[in-house]
Amino acid sequence: MITKAKKRITAVKGTHDILPEEARKWQKVESVAREIFELYGYREIRTPVFEPTELFEKGTGETSDVVTKEMYTFWDKAGRSLTLRPEYTPSVVRAIMDHSLHLQSSPMRYYFFGPMFRYDKPQKGRYRQFHQIDIEVFGEKDAAIDAEIVEMADFLLKSLNVRDTEILVNSVGCRACRPSYHRELKEAAEGVRENLCADCQRKINLNPLRIFDCKEETCRELSRGFPKITDFLCSECEEHFKRFCDSLGSYGIPYRIEPRLVRGLDYYTKTTFEIISSKLGAQDAILGGGRYDDMMKEFGGPDICGIGFAMGLERFLSVVPFEAEKESFLYIAFLGDAAKEAGMALARRLRRGGVECLIEYKDRALKNQLSRANKLGASWVLIIGEDEVRANRYQLKNMNTGSQQEIRAEEILDLIGKPESSS
Ligand code: HAM
Repeated sequence: MITKAKKRITAVKGTHDILPEEARKWQKVESVAREIFELYGYREIRTPVFEPTELFEKGTGETSDVVTKEMYTFWDKAGRSLTLRPEYTPSVVRAIMDHSLHLQSSPMRYYFFGPMFRYDKPQKGRYRQFHQIDIEVFGEKDAAIDAEIVEMADFLLKSLNVRDTEILVNSVGCRACRPSYHRELKEAAEGVRENLCADCQRKINLNPLRIFDCKEETCRELSRGFPKITDFLCSECEEHFKRFCDSLGSYGIPYRIEPRLVRGLDYYTKTTFEIISSKLGAQDAILGGGRYDDMMKEFGGPDICGIGFAMGLERFLSVVPFEAEKESFLYIAFLGDAAKEAGMALARRLRRGGVECLIEYKDRALKNQLSRANKLGASWVLIIGEDEVRANRYQLKNMNTGSQQEIRAEEILDLIGKPESSS
């Protein structure tokens, strides 16, 4: 009888597994980021992976590519339209309002790590499930905070030895100054309408600012000739932008003004910025952010301004130079059932003393257990036979030096618990 080959189920396109060796790097980056954010007074907040679709339509913006093309939206069994979060910012604003966090006395500075979902065309550095580290600050109008968060991002990059980056900054104005810019931009875009892609032609009327997000080379080239938003700022936005740039200068942080940096989300007001890396390909933005002073008010909440940034972890990890970390653990090799029992009890005791122990229960000859320990990179092997159990004396082999010594159970922790002894 011919049996049909079973179809293997593989990961969904645009998603990826983070395997143990890689996960270590994620843990390292997350722990450094966490430490730095806490130094600046940020506290962690966690929100649900899915939210009412309306939250992103209203927050992220109906003319953004994220909302028009990239959301994972579905109906739940009760007929509600839900969306897997494509970004974090609207969720934090919702959480503040739901829990009246603005009425508490603690500073409104939050950080967050988690997966995001966007149905974009997968390529290197662009995934359908990706991860962000995000920070958000509320209630700080002063441009000093705009500079402080860029300085904090710069500190994070430097702490992980990330070089070859560039900070791009811009101001996208506010409700007062943007309409006149929109008019000029619309006029310029109308002038080259036939040469723009169908999507950008649609954007001319909807929100001409979004033409700058287009990934088509022709549109990008044409948009380089469009008027600059920085030439249209009202005095308040101009002053804010100047103070932001001056503060970056005082911190000694180099930056470049990029007048076409409007960012792909609809909510930005005044400051926008990105940090790009020359080590990445087309998807070169490690992080991006800006001010969104109107979002909470537009959600029907209090008039509290906000600013923040999000870093793409996949992209960031690909430019962090990690040093190879050597494993340091004790492998317990045993011969026979009594030795196995003794090994289990010892492993329990040692783990409680903070020693990483590995005991594998598969039946293997001693020689095979030793070569397995070697292959896994164990620093120590504890050899237990039935005689050793009776005499409470074990053979401890240092895998780095090859030396072996006899040791009593109660001496093990003392010996290998000391950092210098594992060298
Ligand atoms: P964003 O520019 O859409 O901003 O995303 C921030 C970062 O997430 C990007 O710079 C990039 O590193 C990463 N990223 C975005 N899309 C993908 C993708 N498909 N695959 C891999 N990485 C990606 C925001 O999300 C805003 N919420 C940032 C913000 C916070 N603004 C104010 N507060």
